Amino acid sequence: MKIVVTGGQGGLGSAVVTEFDRRRLRDTEVVAASRRTGFDLATGAGMAEVITDADVIVHAASHPTKHHAVDVAGTERLATMLRARMAHTHVVYVSIVGCDRNPFGYYRAKTAAEGILADSGLPVTVVRATQFHTLVDTIAETATIGPLGFAPHGLRFQPCETAWVARRLVDHALGERPDGCRRAADLAGPQQLSLAEAMRIRAESAGQRAPRMVEVPAVGGVLAAFADGANLPGPDAELGGPSYASWVSR
Ligand SMILES: NC(=O)c1ccc[n+]([C@@H]2O[C@H](COP(=O)([O-])OP(=O)(O)OC[C@H]3O[C@@H](n4cnc5c(N)ncnc54)[C@H](OP(=O)(O)O)[C@@H]3O)[C@@H](O)[C@H]2O)c1
Repeated sequence: MKIVVTGGQGGLGSAVVTEFDRRRLRDTEVVAASRRTGFDLATGAGMAEVITDADVIVHAASHPTKHHAVDVAGTERLATMLRARMAHTHVVYVSIVGCDRNPFGYYRAKTAAEGILADSGLPVTVVRATQFHTLVDTIAETATIGPLGFAPHGLRFQPCETAWVARRLVDHALGERPDGCRRAADLAGPQQLSLAEAMRIRAESAGQRAPRMVEVPAVGGVLAAFADGANLPGPDAELGGPSYASWVSR
């Protein structure tokens, strides 16, 4: 069995490769593919060689700023190549909870990529996840300036751990190949928290005082969508992995 992990050196992709290794699968080759291995979704370079004979592709490559070229056109290119080969490669695509409810350009690109795969006729599993702990941590760090913390009104997260998301993606990759495109249960961490709480948790774990919070209005469509909870999981989501607080404490 040949498994390709696009973005296999990224935050999530490397956790997926590690998880495949951990399972010690027999007769299975796992190939991590990204620009640094000569595989470029934006130009098509190196793609044909890598996807040849792939039984499963865990598609985790992404570019938050060059999202049109990588996430949209790159996913279209991948689907076209697989179709041209008359392949029945199972594509496991990782997307973002609520991406279709937020006008953020990157989230629109994720929604467009989901649509491309849904229309491709290929066996596809779309798995949406909430923001990763690593991202919330970066946002909390960036929004802390000296003794002050700045947080848009109403902004909340239910973040999850990449290693846990990776485990669920590997389960899907090794599970039954669907007939057409299916949406798996959304993935989210066990606990919701505000940005202010995230800042307090990371400050306390570093032995520092929590920042004094300054609430800023959630202006514009993107922040308003976050403030409305568009990024939060619904009641059918699968919850798992450690909370942000226990992830930080580790
Ligand atoms: N971060 C989050 O909070 C979050 C939450 C939910 C879902 N997701 C989704 O999870 C996936 C992985 O996110 P991540 O945070 O792990 O991203 P990441 O760490 O930024 O990794 C992105 C990967 O994509 C590769 N890449 C970028 N441009 C490429 C190109 N032109 N061709 C081929 N590969 C390219 C990068 O490798 P090279 O630089 O070597 O090309 C890298 O390995 C994304 O689809 C993202 O939307 C992320």
